[in-house]
Amino acid sequence: MTAEQDPVKLMKQLVGFAAADRVQSGTIVGLGTGSTTAYTIQALGDRLKSGQLKDIKGVPTSFQSEVLAKQYGVPLTTLDEIDRIDIAIDGADEVDPQLNLIKGGGAAHTREKVVDYLAAQFIVVVDSSKVVDKLGSTFKVPVEVLPMAITPVTRAIELLGGKPELRMGVKKAGPVITDQGNMVLDVKFDNLDNPGGIGKNFK
Ligand code: A5P
Repeated sequence: MTAEQDPVKLMKQLVGFAAADRVQSGTIVGLGTGSTTAYTIQALGDRLKSGQLKDIKGVPTSFQSEVLAKQYGVPLTTLDEIDRIDIAIDGADEVDPQLNLIKGGGAAHTREKVVDYLAAQFIVVVDSSKVVDKLGSTFKVPVEVLPMAITPVTRAIELLGGKPELRMGVKKAGPVITDQGNMVLDVKFDNLDNPGGIGKNFK
């Protein structure tokens, strides 16, 4: 289904393109992961091609965003080569009224957090289906885990009251393996009233 026929796709396209319009020439841009930021990367490429935008460099948050940047002609850099990120644009899986986010639907959240945290400005691009009253309403909390630590981390999450589930691959036997070679636990919490505080009790 095209964006014209599918209202969710259309919203993703509109916010993805609108975020790309906020990017200025000469800046370093964090390139998020997912279907919404794919539109942003496409629009950045279009703006560069038309000459409307000049001299930007993208920091990809995943293999996917790196491939898209190359496809659309957005020059790339790495954290080793820069001393700042001016703006990062990224998607999310849930957003609550306090702007807390659940990220990691695409298993890219660890790199996303590094890049987004370093950015002077962080723009989150979501369609209306992502806006919830309470985090955890529709989505579990993805936790990236070193494979050797999967058993102790599973136990620690259970002690916090979470129900972890190892994310399994689609069209791939076994678990999802992230771009960093790690696994993902999707954790159901019955109470996410204090999302920022939950990890503080992690032992
Ligand atoms: C990637 O791991 C996530 O944090 C994404 O930012 C999120 O899943 C957004 O995806 P869509 O833009 O495809 O909805």
